[in-house]
Amino acid sequence: MCGIVAYLGDKQAYPILIKGLHRLEYRGYDSSGIAIINGNLNLYKRKGKVEELEKFVKGKDVSGTIGIAHTRWATHGEPNDENAHPHFSQNKELSIIHNGIIENYNSLKEELITRGHVFNSDTDTEVLIHLIEDVQENENLDLAESVRVALNQVVGAYAIVVISKNDNNTLIAAKKGSPLVIGSGDGEFLIASDATPIVEYTRKVVYLEDEEMAILERGKEIVLKSISNIKHTPYFQELTMNLDVLEKGGYEHFMLKEIFEQPHSIRESMRGRLRLGQGIISLGGITEYKQKLMNAKRIIMIACGTSWHAGLVGEYLFEELTRIPVEVEYASEFRYRKPVINEDDVVIAISQSGETADTLAAIKMAKEKGATILGICNVVGSSIPRETHAGSYTHAGPEIGVASTKAFTSQVTLLTMMALMIAHDKGTITNSRHQQIINALNDIPEQIEDVLKTTDAITKDIAAKFKDSRNFLYLGRGYNFPVALEGALKLKEISYIHAEGYPAAEMKHGPIALIDEEMPVVVIAPKKGNYDKVVSNIQEVKARKGKIIALVSKGDTEVRAVADYVIEIPDVEEMLVPLVATIPLQLLSYYIAVMRNCNVDQPRNLAKSVTVE
Ligand code: M6R
Repeated sequence: MCGIVAYLGDKQAYPILIKGLHRLEYRGYDSSGIAIINGNLNLYKRKGKVEELEKFVKGKDVSGTIGIAHTRWATHGEPNDENAHPHFSQNKELSIIHNGIIENYNSLKEELITRGHVFNSDTDTEVLIHLIEDVQENENLDLAESVRVALNQVVGAYAIVVISKNDNNTLIAAKKGSPLVIGSGDGEFLIASDATPIVEYTRKVVYLEDEEMAILERGKEIVLKSISNIKHTPYFQELTMNLDVLEKGGYEHFMLKEIFEQPHSIRESMRGRLRLGQGIISLGGITEYKQKLMNAKRIIMIACGTSWHAGLVGEYLFEELTRIPVEVEYASEFRYRKPVINEDDVVIAISQSGETADTLAAIKMAKEKGATILGICNVVGSSIPRETHAGSYTHAGPEIGVASTKAFTSQVTLLTMMALMIAHDKGTITNSRHQQIINALNDIPEQIEDVLKTTDAITKDIAAKFKDSRNFLYLGRGYNFPVALEGALKLKEISYIHAEGYPAAEMKHGPIALIDEEMPVVVIAPKKGNYDKVVSNIQEVKARKGKIIALVSKGDTEVRAVADYVIEIPDVEEMLVPLVATIPLQLLSYYIAVMRNCNVDQPRNLAKSVTVE
């Protein structure tokens, strides 16, 4: 949560910072602010989105070639102007932007108050910049040293950038727990929470490690050191990100663009890994740990939100294909419930952002207990891939819409490939069946292209009929139970309609009481596995006058005869149905949200990467 961007160079900082804030707005949009040095330290901040800040600074002095900017997802203190970042120090000579939580801010604050400090906000961040200034004044240190000494008193997570009115040549950055990447260009430095504000200025970047700080001075090389004062050598990496993916490319929203990108993103997830001709799947990133995975006594998937739903699909896949027992855990529960973890357990951590605090903490805990940790992440260079023993990137490309779409289908694609690879090597699947599923998986992107063409209009029509509903129920069995959960999550997070996903057979154990003529029930009912049982569940809903929106296999007649609306999906392997069935559910949520005038890409109260507990 919270987006950080900073600039030091020979260009005007303001346009670069504002553009960067727009790119990072997905990380939080409760307020935003900017501080630029030009003789004075000019600081402007506003509740609301970045465009509110832009309106506010019109006509004001935003000149200068060094500055910091922030977009906030509120933790300490309500979203208002005072709590927005950047924050000033007591004498208004220093300013800070911060992502994370300073856990001991209360005790630090009390101590600073006794020394005469006066605070203008409710934030933990303001306490930190006061502390830095206090150290600077009392110990007579330069800015970098003051930041370092102050950070040694801090408990919690932080990604910070600090500037001083008296030094327009220096940016000080540091991180622990929250991400920070530094771009090193021609005579300029950029710092950001992710690489998206940096990529159009330079492709040469350094990802800061935990408890590491950077001293960036005009005309000099990057200096890195630990907060315990040990010098580090910067490890530069090359960004490969394509700039087009950061724009809407003619779509009204990023979410719609990302839904339509799925044939491409799934192909990217499979590229070079699914080798049709050779009949093999090769996941280079986990080669070293393949044997460990094959011999695992148990696999534990840990994730949150949509990634947890992908993990549930993974459970069905791994158990069917590899016969290894699988548990799927919410990272937030797993980390605190004293789980039994053994050395022959393999934990698969799934995360789009690679920054989710609960997932990260659960990984660290399982690692300490001796488990092998593999990651499935989308954002290259993020914290989770660096914390795991090995892993595979999904390569879905940047996902900007807060509601996860293409990341989910790429996660499921990767889990499918992983399970197939292990099953093949373990011999829990015949060669011919392995080849058959590989072929089917390879065809999925084309089939999704078809689904996008054929279901776009119908989902829009259905959306128009049900946009004012107050509740929705989503039902599915087997592989489609997680699809039902994901469909419900998508709807509630972007349209604010209450929605529940259930295993279809569970309906009669409670939720059936909710059904009346007002209740839309979305049923994923392909002609597979438990089809007949799902048909019975549909009948139970119809008998209580619920409205059925059914996802059926092409040519289905039985469900069509009872459903109020049907959406046809291609007839694919049962284990691959989630990949095609998810698409119309994403479209349905999208169109309902648009028709309700909701902010699709930035739904209220949410942020793309949840870096707090
Ligand atoms: O970045 P992660 O995949 O770890 O994020 C996990 C969840 O926060 C995320 O999937 C969230 O549920 C999305 N808003 C779902 O659309």
